[in-house]
Amino acid sequence: MKYTSKSLKDTEKIAREFGKSLKGNEIICLVGDLGAGKTTFTKYLLSSLGVEEDVLSPTFILRSDHKSKKGMVYHFDWYRMDNKEDLLGVDFFDTLYDGIVIIEWADKYIRILDDYKKIVINFEGKDNIRYIDIIR
Ligand SMILES: Nc1ncnc2c1ncn2[C@@H]1O[C@H](COP(=O)(O)OP(=O)(O)O)[C@@H](O)[C@H]1O
Ligand SMILES: [Mg+2]
Repeated sequence: MKYTSKSLKDTEKIAREFGKSLKGNEIICLVGDLGAGKTTFTKYLLSSLGVEEDVLSPTFILRSDHKSKKGMVYHFDWYRMDNKEDLLGVDFFDTLYDGIVIIEWADKYIRILDDYKKIVINFEGKDNIRYIDIIR
């Protein structure tokens, strides 16, 4: 499904709608350049799942766990991941199918995953416009 977001409000709507479709055991791969809106999308998605705390950009923390109304949500950022051992270091494999797993920069090691939803966010430097493609 392809969307054009013209504002944060649009992105919030798209993320909420997507959130409704989740059962609680999905792997969600977020793909897009720095500043595309992966963390922003995640923030709205988590808020729609009832997560109240702030979603920090895990670029700095690699993994953050949240309790949501559909179970646990594990939010990863693979930007600084240099090898698969790094994934073991944050116990990535223990989180699979234990809840909703959200991965920013997932294209880095997407080969190791087999069943996932992919969200591609593109921007072309035009202020607030984002092209969001949700591939289920
Ligand atoms: N329509 C939009 N959708 C999402 N983010 C937007 C939009 N317009 C502007 N932005 C801004 O773009 C930036 C995206 O940053 P971030 O979500 O951290 O990107 P990423 O995690 O992909 O590096 C934020 O500052 C956000 O406010
Ligand atoms: Mg980010």
